[in-house]
Parts: sequence; structure tokens; C-alpha cells
Amino acid sequence: MSVAATDTPLSPSVQQFLATDHTMLIDGNWVTALSGQTFSTLNPATGETMCQIPEGQQGDIDLAVRAARRAFDQGAWRKLTASERGKLIWKLADLMESRLEDFAQLESLDNGKPVAIARVADVPLAIDLFRYMAGWATKIEGHTIPISVPNAPGAQFHAYTLREPVGVVGQIIPWNFPLLMAAWKLGPALAVGCTIILKPAEQTPLSALLLGQLFCEAGFPPGVVNIVTGFGETAGAALAAHPDVDKVAFTGSTEVGKLILHAASGNLKKVTLELGGKSPTLVLADADLESSIPGVANAIFFNHGQCCCAGSRIYAEKSIFDKVVAGVADQAKQIKIGPGMDTQTDMGPLVSEEQQQRVLGYLEAGMNEGAKAITGGGRVGERGYFIEPTVLVNTNQSMKVIQEEIFGPVVCAEPFTDLEEVVAKANGSIYGLAASIWTKDIGKAHRLAAQLRAGTVWINCHNIFDAALPFGGYKQSGWGREMGHDALELYTEKKAVCIQV
Ligand code: NAI
Ligand code: MG
Repeated sequence: MSVAATDTPLSPSVQQFLATDHTMLIDGNWVTALSGQTFSTLNPATGETMCQIPEGQQGDIDLAVRAARRAFDQGAWRKLTASERGKLIWKLADLMESRLEDFAQLESLDNGKPVAIARVADVPLAIDLFRYMAGWATKIEGHTIPISVPNAPGAQFHAYTLREPVGVVGQIIPWNFPLLMAAWKLGPALAVGCTIILKPAEQTPLSALLLGQLFCEAGFPPGVVNIVTGFGETAGAALAAHPDVDKVAFTGSTEVGKLILHAASGNLKKVTLELGGKSPTLVLADADLESSIPGVANAIFFNHGQCCCAGSRIYAEKSIFDKVVAGVADQAKQIKIGPGMDTQTDMGPLVSEEQQQRVLGYLEAGMNEGAKAITGGGRVGERGYFIEPTVLVNTNQSMKVIQEEIFGPVVCAEPFTDLEEVVAKANGSIYGLAASIWTKDIGKAHRLAAQLRAGTVWINCHNIFDAALPFGGYKQSGWGREMGHDALELYTEKKAVCIQV
């Protein structure tokens, strides 16, 4: 794919950032991996190497955990007041805002997403998350609890609870929203007073490293946030298994989520998981199709389908099915594919060759089982990891393309005749992350919302996120919730204190 005339010029600070010898952040110092080894991070629009990144492994994780442990147990972090902690987090958000364009460009270069989207979605949402969590730092409260103690007649007690930080947290994040996933993880953990070892995805380490620089600039004490780059099977696995880590928080595949759980069992560290999805979009005959069709198309094609909550199964009522399919296919055909740094691009490449091959494999499996592509169905060009936005029909519940997470711009569409049938189909998945309902009938919308086994149900919208709104999965889509009050709770332990007075 040629570099278009509309290509965004790299900001001088991004140019400078890309040209540096990259190091990772351990105990407030920028260091190479102990082994001296590095790995390449690629531009998925071209397949070309952009820079070398330190390949952290077990020994580097050990150092980072030691630093986080010290910062938690005796470091300056514990001595800060909640207000000072909140102020630091807010300061980080301000620094991020001053580098918004740099972050947007790095996200686009590393992940492939359109820079225009990163500017209005990924980066502002990450900044807002930190500000939301900064406000919570001073509001982590316990309760006073009246107790009766029947076996101590006549004695009097005063009892209360404290919410304390869980301790040292390992956070392992994916490549689909590199900066935003870092924010979802770091924000609540910092607000309650944990210390952290963050391992970004090997495909997209750049924005986390820039964020690390801003943590130093903001004045976070050494060891509070450590960022170790490296691969999942080595650095990630070492972090998940580490006996001195109190909690591991993971976002990624359900397959690796299960490995994390096993690894965490050694010291029974706390675990939260945000995993895969196969989210249904239910389009009822009375829906306003003019807004529903673009909405349903965006539910799958946003971020190239690389969203855990992508609306990857359309169930449209029979009387409108053909119209919905034709409309979504039409939307797909209008999507302008190109490098993310081209400001005219609607959809960039997938993140990696591996992901492109995985999606092509699903397309082939779908066709072999009898699915038909109304539009799309293959890769685009020879260079870069592009895939055509694809609409599949003639699918059924037993097919791989209906049951498994594709994580690409591929949607399956099926007709339905009654609501009971569509609820059974929508729930007929090992996943339960999200769903959307498109209808003008508010009663039906609420009844369906109650019946869907999913952590989020959107009505007449999809992919709407807010720092205040909890997000997470039923079934094999995960454990726990991100964002909102729930995320904070999951980074705390509750202590009961009981005094005989
Ligand atoms: P993955 O689950 O392997 O990677 C996510 C993160 O986990 C990365 O930081 C990786 O380094 C780390 N990791 C990998 N193996 C690990 C291990 N054994 N121990 C500890 N950490 C480990 O996901 P991958 O391979 O990049 O993508 C595969 C599929 O996963 C995608 O096609 C998609 O279906 C799903 N996925 C879901 C995401 C979500 O947001 N729920 C995000 C990324 C991928
Ligand atoms: Mg993997």
C-alpha cells in the first residue's frame, strides 16, 4: 500500500521517540533487559520494523516485583495521603493531554488503527479514565457496622471496615487498545494505592513506554509503576506466577486467561480477567433502520473488529433481515481501507500477520462449512495486514464462525422469527461480554436486556464506554469488572476491625 498524500506528518517528538534506544521502566530507572535481548515492533500497515524493544523475562520481572514490593511495603507511596495520590494521577492526565497527538500517532503506528480515531477515542478516553480515578482516590471508604456478638453478653464493641490496597499488582494487557487498556488497569490500582508491574502486549509496547516517561515526569515515586516489555509466554507468565505479586489483572484471550488462573494458583493471588466475546446485536422489526444499520455495522467494524465486545453476530427479525444485511454490506463497502496514518482511512490493517492469518483461517472455515460472503471475504493488497470488512450469511449455531471469537472485521448475520428463539441463540455461546438491542419498543428492549447473559447490554447503541460504567463478562468472558466503582473494589482488600469498648 502506498503512502498516501494525506499521510499525517510524524510529530517531531514522535520522530525523536521512535529513534531512541528503547528501555523499560523498573524502580524509576530506564533499563535494558538483563539478557540484553530485544524484539522488533512492526508497523502493521507495511510489515516494516519500527524499532527494537527490550525483551524482559523472568529476571527482569523479579527486579520489577522487588521494586513494586518495596514501594508498597515501605516506600514513599504508602506515606502519601489519598489527596496527594489523586493529585499525581490528575497531573499524569494533564501531561497525557499535552501529548495527545503523540499518543495518537504511536497508537496508529504500532496498532494500525486510524490516527483520527485514536485522537478522539483511545487517547481522550484514557485521559478521562485517569481523571475519574483520581477523584476516587479520596473516596475509598469503609463502614461502621453494628455488631451484637450473642456469645459475649454484656460486652460492647465498636466495629468498622477499612478498604486497603491489595498490594503489588501484575497487569497484562493486549494490543487492541494499548493505551486505553493500560489506563483501565493502572487508573483504579493507583487510585487505591497499589503498586504495579505492567506488561504491555509485545505487538504494541510503544504507548506504554511513553506513558512511563510521563509517570516519571509527574513525580510518581520509583517502583510505583514498573513497565516491563516482553512476550507473554516468558515475561507475562513469570508475572502471573510470581509469589510476591498479590493480584494479577489480565485482558486478552480466554485461552490465556485460563493459563493465568493456573499460574496464579501457586500463591492464590487475586485474579481479574477480561476475556473474549461473541457479542450479539439483535435488530427487531420495529427498529429505526436508518440509524440501526450504521450502528450495527459500526458495532463490528469499529477498531477493525478487534474489540472484545465487537458485535460479531447480527440477529435480525425475518421481515427486515434482507434490508439489514444489504444495509450493513453497503456500509462495509463504503469503508476506506488504508494505513492508519492516512487521515482519510476508516479502517487500517489488523495488528499483525498472525492476526491476519487467524482471521483468514476463520473465513476459510466459514466458507467450508457453507457460509456465504455477501461482501468481503479476503485480504486487501499484498503489503500490510489488511482484511476486507466481511458480512457472512447462511451460518448456523454450530459453525466455528458463530461460536469462536474471530477478532477481525467479520460479522455473521442470521434471521429470527420470535424473541424466545433469538434469546436462546444470543445466549448460546461460551461468552457473555456484551450485546446490543435495536428497537423502538422500550418494553421489549428492557425485557430482552434482562434475559441476555452479558455484562453489558446496549440499547440502540454499541461500543459506548465510560470511566464510570462497569465493564466485564459473564461466563467465559471473564471475572470481575473494569472501570467504575467495581474496578476500585477489586483492587482492595476489606479489613474488619473490632474493638471491645
Ligand atoms: P493473548 O491472550 O495471547 O495476549 C494478550 C496478552 O497476554 C499479551 O500481553 C500477551 O503477551 C500476554 N500473554 C500471552 N500468553 C501469556 C501467558 N502464557 N502468560 C501470561 N501472559 C500471556 O492474545 P493474542 O495471542 O494476542 O490474540 C489471540 C486472540 O485473543 C485474538 O484473536 C482474540 O480473539 C483474543 N484477544 C482478546 C482480547 C480482548 O480484549 N478480550 C485482546 C486481545 C486478544
Ligand atoms: Mg497469544
